[in-house]
Amino acid sequence: MSSLPQQIPSTFTRMVGCKYPIIAGPMFLVSDVDLVVATSETGGVGGMPSLNWRTTEEFRTAVQAVKKRTQKPFAVNLIVNQSNPRQEADLEVCVQEKVPMIITSLGNPKTVIQAMHQVGGKIFCDVTDLKYAEKVEGLGADGVIAVSSGAGGHAGPISPFVLIPYLKKHLKIPIVAAGGISTGEQIAAAMTLGASAVQMGTRFIASTEAHVEENYKNAILKSDPEDIMLTKKISGTNLAVIKTPYIEKLGTELGIVEANLLKNPKLKKYVKMARIWIGSQKLKNAILGPTYKEVWSAGQGVGLIEDISSVKEIMNRLVHEYVTAMERNKEMLQALSHTGP
Ligand SMILES: Cc1cc2nc3c(=O)[nH]c(=O)nc-3n(C[C@H](O)[C@H](O)[C@H](O)COP(=O)(O)O)c2cc1C
Repeated sequence: MSSLPQQIPSTFTRMVGCKYPIIAGPMFLVSDVDLVVATSETGGVGGMPSLNWRTTEEFRTAVQAVKKRTQKPFAVNLIVNQSNPRQEADLEVCVQEKVPMIITSLGNPKTVIQAMHQVGGKIFCDVTDLKYAEKVEGLGADGVIAVSSGAGGHAGPISPFVLIPYLKKHLKIPIVAAGGISTGEQIAAAMTLGASAVQMGTRFIASTEAHVEENYKNAILKSDPEDIMLTKKISGTNLAVIKTPYIEKLGTELGIVEANLLKNPKLKKYVKMARIWIGSQKLKNAILGPTYKEVWSAGQGVGLIEDISSVKEIMNRLVHEYVTAMERNKEMLQALSHTGP
């Protein structure tokens, strides 16, 4: 492999202060201190959901552990809707510990934006459509994570080929592309479409630093994009999972009783919370230990992942592939300039 560039400059890397425009996306029950530190130390930004720790105090200890092991920027994911009873307390930890970057999911990020700007943090919000993206831009978000179709976790409905340039056309703040990205060529494509960084989840599950059940990693290697299906049976909204015998048995749609209860304004909050609790227990069992109830979230990018490597090897390869793709583009540009009338 030829020598790698010291950095890939973009609006995102300048704003956040990292070398490469690559975030290892926060992943429920997957992203732990080792994965975050490894990503940030190799030039990207490691992300971790605060809810990966059982209590706010355990979350604080994890943030302090990351800060002890790296001086580089990292990100915390906060869920900011009413399903998360810890949002205020976890935000307080982020403020006190001066977390460099926050990724918000769902809800209204206004309080997070105001509080984190006081301590110099950058706030990026997960978005799946323009309406919500414009809302968070209006609230002062520093950027958006454009979660498109094909993503692991809760995928959006819009193709990245449309979502990235569509958001770019209407927003002034930087866009981070997320969904189905596993290679450096795809990073080059996302940047060409107008993204200033990418967020990748599934690729980093198949890394030596991800402490998840080996069968989960092997399922990612073996799966094709056709094996990824969306089910509402885990969290109440579409979650991208690998097709396993258990998932096929579980099905994809909510039962009639639950769907009706979700229409009841008084009960829907509790029904949602119960579904999320049951679903997270299922995920936990499948991610952390062998079980026949295989619930493994992953995106369509599984089709481009062939090995379990260290985060350093993955990062080096991504950067190398990115550079190769850009060189190819340069050759295409040169060829264009030689085809005159
Ligand atoms: C197992 C898994 C868990 C995830 N958990 C979260 C989460 O807790 N919060 C969040 O904002 N995104 C979550 N995501 C989304 C990722 O941060 C990232 O946006 C997504 O994985 C990108 O798509 P890709 O997996 O196709 O690369 C999760 C993704 C996966 C695969």
